[in-house]
Amino acid sequence: MLIEGFLQYCATRLTRRYLAFEEYTQDSPPQSQKDGRYLLYIHIPFCEELCPYCSFVSIKFEPSVALGYLDAIKKEIEIYQRCGYCFDSVYIGGGTPTILPEKLAGIISFVRDTWPIKQVSVETNPNHLVNETLRILKDVGVNRLSVGVQSFNDKILESIGRLEKYGTGEEIKERLVRIAGMFETLNIDMIFNFPNQTEEILAEDIRAIKESKVNQITYYPLMVSEYRKNEISKRCGEVNYRQEKKLYQQIVEGLTEAYEQESVWCFSNKKGAIDEYIIDYDDYVGVGRGAFGYINGTMYSNTFSIDRYIKRAQEGKHSILAYRRYSYIERMRYDFLIRLLYGTLELSYMKRKYGKSYWFYLLRELLFFSSTRAVKFRDGKIVLTEKGRNYWLILMRTLFSMAGDYRERRAKLDTAGDEN
Ligand SMILES: C[S@@+](CC[C@H](N)C(=O)[O-])C[C@H]1O[C@@H](n2cnc3c(N)ncnc32)[C@H](O)[C@@H]1O
Ligand code: SF4
Repeated sequence: MLIEGFLQYCATRLTRRYLAFEEYTQDSPPQSQKDGRYLLYIHIPFCEELCPYCSFVSIKFEPSVALGYLDAIKKEIEIYQRCGYCFDSVYIGGGTPTILPEKLAGIISFVRDTWPIKQVSVETNPNHLVNETLRILKDVGVNRLSVGVQSFNDKILESIGRLEKYGTGEEIKERLVRIAGMFETLNIDMIFNFPNQTEEILAEDIRAIKESKVNQITYYPLMVSEYRKNEISKRCGEVNYRQEKKLYQQIVEGLTEAYEQESVWCFSNKKGAIDEYIIDYDDYVGVGRGAFGYINGTMYSNTFSIDRYIKRAQEGKHSILAYRRYSYIERMRYDFLIRLLYGTLELSYMKRKYGKSYWFYLLRELLFFSSTRAVKFRDGKIVLTEKGRNYWLILMRTLFSMAGDYRERRAKLDTAGDEN
């Protein structure tokens, strides 16, 4: 427990530094530094229902606003095109990207016509697994569909406000079974450690996953931002991080009977399945309201105001509002953290990117994690152990919860005085 507390403390301090953004005042986004190999992240922030735990600061769907927003997305992508960017993968996240499927297909077609895109990943909700939407996604070349399920238990779904809108666990499972094999990768997003989620409920969820025939599962620990804390405890009870480790172990044991563990929280039964963040990419460009981008050692954040976002796009202007240039050591730590989320870090990769003395700068981390047996060195790689996976869960949960806090804070500031 002492080490876990220490890790949480370090992660909080580190994340605070990484999120200490400055105002971005340049007229154009950063220029592309290389040809190809960028990932394009597109954010669609609208949802039919807002879930009480969600820290992605979505807004209630209104067709007229969403239509204007999706036109603005295309304009922002064109700005990056003019800056010389070339993309070969697209990740469309939300909110609910499939809220206006035909408009979404228009954006995907435009990106596909502009660059040699190999992979398109789209997030959705269970109520959008209907023939018409699926056909549109399939025809436009979506390779990976990711469905937010969270739990198959009706009591949990009811407490998080998803039962009425998205159907019972059984109905969701049937829809998943029906579309098995339609996309190269069918992922479901699940959450564990809801306060009202017992070991028995989790065992039922694991059983339902195996019956659902999906080939990938991303199983997030519940991440609680300060802004969501009260609402979560009102609906589900007090969050208890002490049971996280036990539940995580249950998931790993249950799922590795049928799936391979691909990252700390991703499981897959398909070789070469497309993962949730596509780790192959060092850099990504984020477009859309509140999107983050990481380009050449600098983190960028777009405005959270929909009004401002649409207006700027109509004027042909980018929407970057804040940035934080990471020092050399901060970049190394960022790589260390994110790459080990996927279980291994190639020493040759670090050497190529940061020179052969990189280990000297990471000495503290390497000594700490190897002396606590969280990592081991094998065949030119740093490998996360079982204990390390538990540690990484704490690190990533802290980082994501704080990123949620940043979004909520920023959204309040940026949208003061907006109509939408
Ligand atoms: C942001 S949603 C977007 C896609 C879709 N609307 C959905 O609900 O799945 C993507 C996933 O993030 C995860 N997520 C959102 N808020 C979370 C939180 N506070 N803790 C853990 N996971 C969370 C959920 O598993 C969710 O499915
Ligand atoms: S979890 Fe998904 S559906 Fe729920 S509010 Fe967040 S983005 Fe919207």
